[in-house]
Amino acid sequence: MTTIRAATPADQPRIDAIRMGVRENVLSDPAKVTPEEVCWYREHAIFLVAEEAGEVVAFACANHQTGFIWALFVDPSHEGRGHGRALLDEALARLKGAGHAQAWLTTGAGTRAERFYRRHGWHDMGRSLDGQLAFIKTLG
Ligand SMILES: CC(C)(COP(=O)(O)OP(=O)(O)OC[C@H]1O[C@@H](n2cnc3c(N)ncnc32)[C@H](O)[C@@H]1OP(=O)(O)O)[C@@H](O)C(=O)NCCC(=O)NCCS
Repeated sequence: MTTIRAATPADQPRIDAIRMGVRENVLSDPAKVTPEEVCWYREHAIFLVAEEAGEVVAFACANHQTGFIWALFVDPSHEGRGHGRALLDEALARLKGAGHAQAWLTTGAGTRAERFYRRHGWHDMGRSLDGQLAFIKTLG
C-alpha cells in the first residue's frame, strides 16, 4: 500500500538515489538541480514522497505558483504498483487546491512516462524548446 506524505530533509539521500537510479528521463547533469531549488520545493511548494513498507520508493514535486510538475520519479524496482499515479493524483489535487485550472509538465519522447501521461488524460502540446514533449492537463 502506498502512503503519501510531505518530504523531509532526512529523505533527501533516498530521493537523490531514486533520481539518479531511473533508466529514462535520466538527469544529464546533476548540477542542473541545485540544493536551493530542492529546498524551495520542500519548504515552499509541493514535495511529496510515496512510502511502501516504510521505505521511500518515489517522489513528486509541483510548483503551486505556476502549476508545473517539476518531478515525478519512481524507483525502477517499484514501478507498475500505482506509486506514480498516487503521487501525481495528490500533486494535482494540491495544485487544484492552490487555484490552478490546469497543470503542465515536460518529459522525454518515447518513454514510459510519455505513455503514462497520455493514458492519464494529459494533452500533447508539442515540443518545448529543449526538445522535450510538453503536456497539459485540465484539473476538473
Ligand atoms: C513514469 C513513472 C512515473 C510511472 O510510475 P509508476 O509508479 O510505474 O506508474 P503506475 O504504477 O502508477 O502506473 C503504471 C501502470 O502500472 C500498472 N499498475 C498501476 N497500479 C498497479 C498496481 N497496484 N498493481 C499492479 N499494477 C499496477 C498499470 O498498468 C498502470 O497503468 P494504468 O495507470 O494505465 O493503469 C515511472 O515509470 C518513472 O518514474 N519513470 C522514470 C522517470 C520518469 O520518466 N519520470 C517522469 C519524468 S517527467
